[in-house]
Amino acid sequence: MNETTKTQQLNDLKARSRLGGGQARIDAQHKKGRMTARERLDLLLDRGSFREVDPFVVHRTTDFGLDEQKYMSDSVVTGWGTIDGRLVYVYSQDFTVFGGSLGEVHAEKICKIMDMAMKNGAPVIGLNDSGGARIQEGVVSLAGYADIFLRNTMASGVIPQISAIMGPCAGGAVYSPALTDFIFMTRNTSYMFVTGPDVVKAVTHEEVTQEELGGASVHSEKSGVCHVAADSEADTLYQIRRLLAYLPQNNMEDTPFVPTSDDPLRMDDELNAIVPDDPNKPYDIKDLIRRIVDDGNFYEIHENYAGNIVVGFATLGGRSVGIVANQPAVLAGVLDIAASEKGARFVRFCDAFNIPIITFEDVPGFLPGTNQEHHGIIRSGAKLLYAYCEATVPKLTVITRKAYGGAYCVMSSKHIRSDLNLAWPTAEIAVMGPDGAVNIIFRKELENAEDPIKRKAELVAEYKEKFANPYVAASRGYVDDVIEPKETRPRLINALAMLSNKRDTNPAKKHGNIPL
Ligand code: HXC
Repeated sequence: MNETTKTQQLNDLKARSRLGGGQARIDAQHKKGRMTARERLDLLLDRGSFREVDPFVVHRTTDFGLDEQKYMSDSVVTGWGTIDGRLVYVYSQDFTVFGGSLGEVHAEKICKIMDMAMKNGAPVIGLNDSGGARIQEGVVSLAGYADIFLRNTMASGVIPQISAIMGPCAGGAVYSPALTDFIFMTRNTSYMFVTGPDVVKAVTHEEVTQEELGGASVHSEKSGVCHVAADSEADTLYQIRRLLAYLPQNNMEDTPFVPTSDDPLRMDDELNAIVPDDPNKPYDIKDLIRRIVDDGNFYEIHENYAGNIVVGFATLGGRSVGIVANQPAVLAGVLDIAASEKGARFVRFCDAFNIPIITFEDVPGFLPGTNQEHHGIIRSGAKLLYAYCEATVPKLTVITRKAYGGAYCVMSSKHIRSDLNLAWPTAEIAVMGPDGAVNIIFRKELENAEDPIKRKAELVAEYKEKFANPYVAASRGYVDDVIEPKETRPRLINALAMLSNKRDTNPAKKHGNIPL
């Protein structure tokens, strides 16, 4: 074979590898409204940056006639590339080859790039589109999944791991994405469930479609399994690019600097009027966040899940921050099970990856009721508390209005190592709201009062005067300063600079025992 023929052979082999399961199956994929594995990578990565590994790999199975069906690259495309010039490792399951099912070599390919990502300290992004374990390979496929699960766990907190669900993801296969930091889903064309509609029907007699059981809406609104749901595959991939802009490459790196023309000293007079005079009137905490962060850009995580707490990323003075905020516009910003877990997971991610946490607090307390108690609000609330307590990244808190009861302690109070706690003049910091407090401490007096309604109004006014302000807490140093709302942006940016060399540690231990 001369040189030209050898090059030709190489090019032919590569072309064959790129064709996956063949044109007919590619057409079928398109017909379902889905892209192929390679088309997705083209959109996800910077143009021309993808470098594939293992395009010549084929499976080694002979059972069930599989030796007659070999596809180069098998059912997953792996390699690395860049996003906004920064290195990422990727795998993209190819549904056109055995339905993207995972067998021995498919798992080996994923493990190879995960090992490279760990050694070289860069994020891993997995695009999932798979019929699950390759049935013909039996237990070998299960072993492959377990190899990946172990790596997901070892990589947790070391490199960011991002999963996008672009098609089916069922059975035990869901647990690899579930172990990663963020799950993205595409509406109407992706689904995740541990057992599919047929098994559900056989076991519980429920009739349910794939979309109803595990579509993007269900997981982004009800279960909270999905962090970001997008309307199209292209948007899903674009959202991943947006997220990465806020993250460091690994746990040893600082967050990226994003240049901004937004003045770090910018004041915003509108903020002085954003909190309504009536403490029971809601306002949208997202308006407040957008007014404070650089260029009004807030990248929200879990936007449609547990709306009573808002979490997401932004930059302040060009540096990434994680924002956790009670949302008075939803359930008065109360902490319930879902909100506590949503907040806890986000706080832990930020802490693992050196992202300072800014907490905007307006919380009336924990949600009362048998439903919450019976489903374990004690355990869930403790998760959020634990997450804040153990976090050693810079922590800044701004109390905009209510900071009541246990929720005052939990929401990054000074006592649990928050670095700087600021309050607005509208802050109310107390064990509980005036009405409830008066009912309890003056019950006897009110029972015996000549005019209980009038007396109660007097007592409530007295309590408000005493406690519904930030100055009792400030007089004890529980808040470091009371500021005009309009100053919030410059004060936070200044504090982040002040804390840029912060060093804090937790006692040496194997690991803590977060109340799971
Ligand atoms: C081998 C598979 C496969 C699998 C699909 N295919 N799933 N091959 N192992 N798990 C093949 C099909 O034979 C077909 O091959 C091609 O992929 C496309 O599949 P279709 O059924 O034609 O596609 P579609 O109608 O879109 O349906 C997609 C599907 C369905 C819903 C994913 O294929 C399906 O239900 N597959 C089985 C899912 C499953 O039960 N997997 C095991 C789950 S248990 P041809 O040659 O015709 O193109 C599991 C355990 C993991 O995963 C445990 C980890 C710990």
